Amino acid sequence: MTPIIDGSGFREAVLAGLSARPRRIPCRFLYDTAGVALFERITALDSYPLCRAETALLDRHAADIAARVGAVTTVIEPGAGTMVKTRRLLAALDPVAYVPIDVAGAVLQEAARSLAGEFPRLAIVPMVADFTAGLTLPPGLDRSGPVLVFFPGSTIGNLSPAAARDFLAGCGRLAGAGGWVLVGVDPVRDPRLLHRAYDDPQGVTAAFTRNLLVRANRELGADFALGQFDHRAWWNAREGRMELHLVCTSTQQVTVAGCSFLFRSGDTIHVEDCYKYAPEHFHWLARQAGLSPAATWLDEDGLFSLHLLRPGAAPRLPS
Ligand code: TRP
Repeated sequence: MTPIIDGSGFREAVLAGLSARPRRIPCRFLYDTAGVALFERITALDSYPLCRAETALLDRHAADIAARVGAVTTVIEPGAGTMVKTRRLLAALDPVAYVPIDVAGAVLQEAARSLAGEFPRLAIVPMVADFTAGLTLPPGLDRSGPVLVFFPGSTIGNLSPAAARDFLAGCGRLAGAGGWVLVGVDPVRDPRLLHRAYDDPQGVTAAFTRNLLVRANRELGADFALGQFDHRAWWNAREGRMELHLVCTSTQQVTVAGCSFLFRSGDTIHVEDCYKYAPEHFHWLARQAGLSPAATWLDEDGLFSLHLLRPGAAPRLPS
């Protein structure tokens, strides 16, 4: 058996992903410490308005959300990252405990520390875990009161629709009867806006996807020539998603963890998908996962939507 060198499975994922056709590496590996820092810069760019739209929606409707859900004991946030948006929700809901979950351990610890300074009465229980591998809670967490699972940032769109449905079903199980799931989703389908959002003029998004190769060079002893992989983003209308790729610009042999891979000019590594869901489409997905839409907020520019869902609806099978 091949010994596992890093606990995250990065080596296995890269070797398997580069051997497959099309070549593909799961997007969670984009989010090491450097990747999270680049991602934070993306969310502040003029060309990427989605994050600001979501924050504004949360600001505007936090009181309404709190009034609808009533008392919440525990907020759980898969993929919490730097927890910027969570502050708005925590201030409005005033829960007893907050469980942020993320693969980026250093970022998580640092963000939890700074959050603790702002919410001194809140019990913060960070978990370093890959939430796509299944959601579990830290042992000993008091589960007696209502739970709200918060999943902002259109991260749901970075999962395939089948994985998104299964993940939402898992969120519903975690929230349980009497709990809630609050999901941020972007419905944007304007190809010009999307292209600028995912391939910005300053090249921050390009640095974000290329960081995957930087990480492979550093952690796996790979020898990717960084200048020979271009960042490309395009709209796949059939699938309803933006696709992010690294495209090889000249034929070359690359060595990764002692294995050799041939790349020809034009070969791509698919590194992320960003599916877009109009509100009614997302409601359909949520129902497939056994969740009932309780309320939806959409901003006036149609850039972002927040969906409050209740577990317990019977899953509807496609007819
Ligand atoms: N999930 C968000 C989206 O799909 C944010 C995001 C994830 C993102 N990866 C990205 C934004 C890469 C820009 C580039 O939009």
